Amino acid sequence: MKPETVAAQALHSIDEPTGAVVPPIHLATTYARDAGYAPRDRTYARDDNPTPVAAERVLAALEGGAAALTFASGMAASTAAIRALCKPGDHVISPRVGYYTLRGWLERFCARWGVAHDVVDTSDLAAVGRALRPTTRLVWVETPANPTWEITDIAAVAELAHGVGAVVVVDSTCATPVHAQPIALGADLVMHSATKYLGGHSDVLAGALITARADAAWAEIAQLRHDEGPCLGPFEAYLLLRGMRTLFARVERSSRTAQYLAEQLTARGVTVRYPGLPSHPQHALAARQMRRGFGGMLSIQVGGGAPRAHDVVKRLRVWLAATSLGGVESLIEHRHSIEGPTTLTPPDLLRLSVGLEHEGDLLDDLVTALS
Ligand SMILES: Cc1ncc(COP(=O)(O)O)c(C=O)c1O
Repeated sequence: MKPETVAAQALHSIDEPTGAVVPPIHLATTYARDAGYAPRDRTYARDDNPTPVAAERVLAALEGGAAALTFASGMAASTAAIRALCKPGDHVISPRVGYYTLRGWLERFCARWGVAHDVVDTSDLAAVGRALRPTTRLVWVETPANPTWEITDIAAVAELAHGVGAVVVVDSTCATPVHAQPIALGADLVMHSATKYLGGHSDVLAGALITARADAAWAEIAQLRHDEGPCLGPFEAYLLLRGMRTLFARVERSSRTAQYLAEQLTARGVTVRYPGLPSHPQHALAARQMRRGFGGMLSIQVGGGAPRAHDVVKRLRVWLAATSLGGVESLIEHRHSIEGPTTLTPPDLLRLSVGLEHEGDLLDDLVTALS
């Protein structure tokens, strides 16, 4: 089946006993043994509830992976992978541009647990090559990288990292399975903040890991999730399944509008960062590595530093000023002020998450606010 079919039908996840085309939300935390006291398929729901398991099957199919695990958030998924895989003495490479909360957590985690850590521009292959060590256990990649949208060559980084036996994890939150297939390019693990496009409606916090192989590393991650319990609840898993059914329609529409806005704003002299623009320094790589468009995220630089950026946001009537991304409603955010003193984000940058509104309304609102 093509991914659009997998997503729309959620892999035919119907309720077998009744034939209901929408799967039930299983709220039970425990499962009765049979009359002979033998356990059934399931014994306890912490990490074995049929509703999250249904979402995991869809996630694995969409990413072309061997298996998937859901988590209570994207950060829960990210930290579970890193903690399960890294031990004292190991070395980790993380990206210079990427989700800032993970960067802060990694610094604290690595310092506390004796894990060496280098922050590297992963879009620069020579820099990745120089940073790799025989002890490198994990290379974290985010592409397109939030909020300035650099592109990392997943296949090339995977080849370099595998040369020293390191695991490559790709945060594919902004690319989504619609635009990218990191596992086919050589990634070992894919991470999603499913809070964003996969859920798609700004109403569920969720995270996911998808693995290329059900190997020993994957078993470590599953064990950590089993033991520590950062699992997705059944109601959240239901919302995630529901959101994924419209993933392709939503993301393709957001991407088309993002491309339109990027082109229209550029034509009006606005500085735009978007991998779909030929002026993006890595447009050719993005075109090779991504498919069906370049995603619904872009950033503009308005000049005049943070005061001007705040001023533009305050004038908007259609765009909502809020953090997060990937929902049906368009959001705008001044990342420099939210990322704190160590931010690398330019003060005049505004990040745009393009939703499903009419593209003319979105453009007019921005043009009015900018003028
Ligand atoms: C690219 C990216 N990765 C990971 C995360 C973390 O996800 P969550 O908020 O679901 O923990 C976010 C959240 O904003 C994100 O934007």
